[in-house]
Amino acid sequence: MSDPGTLPARDYIPLYDEFDYTVDEFEGALPEGLRGTMYRNGPGKMEAGGQALGHLFDGDGMLSMYAISDGTMRFRNRFVRTKHYRNSLGSGGAPYRALGTMRPGGLLTNALQFPANVANTSVTMHAGKLLALWEGGRPTELDPDTLETVGVHDFDGGLKWIGAFSAHPKWDNRTGEMFNFGLAMFPRPGLACYRVDRAGRLSGMGRLDLPSPMFNHDMGLTDRHLVFVIAPLVFPIGKFLGAGFALRNFIDAIDYDARRGTMIGLVPRDGGRPRILHTDPLMHLHLANTYEDGADTVVELVNYEASWEQLNGQLSNVQDGLAQEGSPYGGKLTRLRITPTDRVIHENVSDLTGDFPGYNRAYTSRRNRFVYLAASADGTAYPNAIAKIDNENGKESLHRLPEDTFAHEPIFVPRPDAAAEDDGWLLAVTQNRFGDPAAMLVLDARDPEAGPVYRGRLRHHMPLTFHGTFTPRVAHPA
Ligand SMILES: [Fe+2]
Repeated sequence: MSDPGTLPARDYIPLYDEFDYTVDEFEGALPEGLRGTMYRNGPGKMEAGGQALGHLFDGDGMLSMYAISDGTMRFRNRFVRTKHYRNSLGSGGAPYRALGTMRPGGLLTNALQFPANVANTSVTMHAGKLLALWEGGRPTELDPDTLETVGVHDFDGGLKWIGAFSAHPKWDNRTGEMFNFGLAMFPRPGLACYRVDRAGRLSGMGRLDLPSPMFNHDMGLTDRHLVFVIAPLVFPIGKFLGAGFALRNFIDAIDYDARRGTMIGLVPRDGGRPRILHTDPLMHLHLANTYEDGADTVVELVNYEASWEQLNGQLSNVQDGLAQEGSPYGGKLTRLRITPTDRVIHENVSDLTGDFPGYNRAYTSRRNRFVYLAASADGTAYPNAIAKIDNENGKESLHRLPEDTFAHEPIFVPRPDAAAEDDGWLLAVTQNRFGDPAAMLVLDARDPEAGPVYRGRLRHHMPLTFHGTFTPRVAHPA
């Protein structure tokens, strides 16, 4: 054990080494029926060419995988070999500009440069391809068994130019299609919408125009619409140009302008003009589920009380520890009901704060009852619990982690032939804030409070990961 008295608590510690081993130190047992692979992605290191990076969003993507079969779990991690990663190995300082980092050389080397694609935000499996996602550019394909980097994936030329393909695609469970969007700033600001069929062929499905350059991170899918809830996170033109000419970082060119309120865009899946509504300002990054409920459209999201400046400040200083910021981690689960008469009714679902909302994906686009969060159990500035929220009555069920331990995003995995929505498991990586080895927990999603049924101890710590996915396919690294 590290001595908490001599080391600073940190919520981000890099991991340079790449491992491949069977987890042989564990308590409990992997449940019968739990079989497949969880992949996760996040910034594995926060320097490039020896230069400290300025923002959590800038670190090179590192994939980790947990392959589970026959009661054993195998771990493997590999950095995504992007151009940024490869060139940083031999460079003096950052080889490229990033969202919150300038490379050495001042204006001359940074002006009119787009941020480097570091492939660090999410990972998904579609049409047999494992893709590391980063919302400002194209996906990077990796081998699902070895995690070796295959290369940039543009869907056979379907993604043009910058080819932004965001980190939060959604799936139609009936057709197997994947839907996503990409932020497009030129020639006019908007969100380009995409449909990828089950064979992996991408086609455009129109765009949602934005009134000015804005930032949007997530989307929802219903039977009829792609749902965008766009917080008033804007790039004021002066700051935007300043960022372009390297007078400031791109991430610092975003302002929260509450006067604009929140814009909702419903893009019809079958063509036609998007429906645009406006409502009171929200401050969120992530949506939970979205669905049509009669003539209404329902969206659940995690709404922050903290300001964008506070949140961005935390992400810029994460190497020093989120706890030092003092405000509770995350936001509150909030339901929006959009009526045919353009009313948007806001309803607080729970007072628990958290983020990284997940749910049983078999319920995408239809009414679900349970949402899972990495949560703050008692106002801590880091997520010290894995939570289940019943969105019908706000009831919470929490598994509190040991002191000074935080949770990565929990992922729900259904039990084979599950009859109930919550019949399955929650998989979550947890990390001690003083750098002790990480753990992989399996909880029974019907009763998280009962504690983990399995706790596997990794041989090293795990830097914070953003998002992951689970697939029934078992990876075989050998
Ligand atoms: Fe996200």
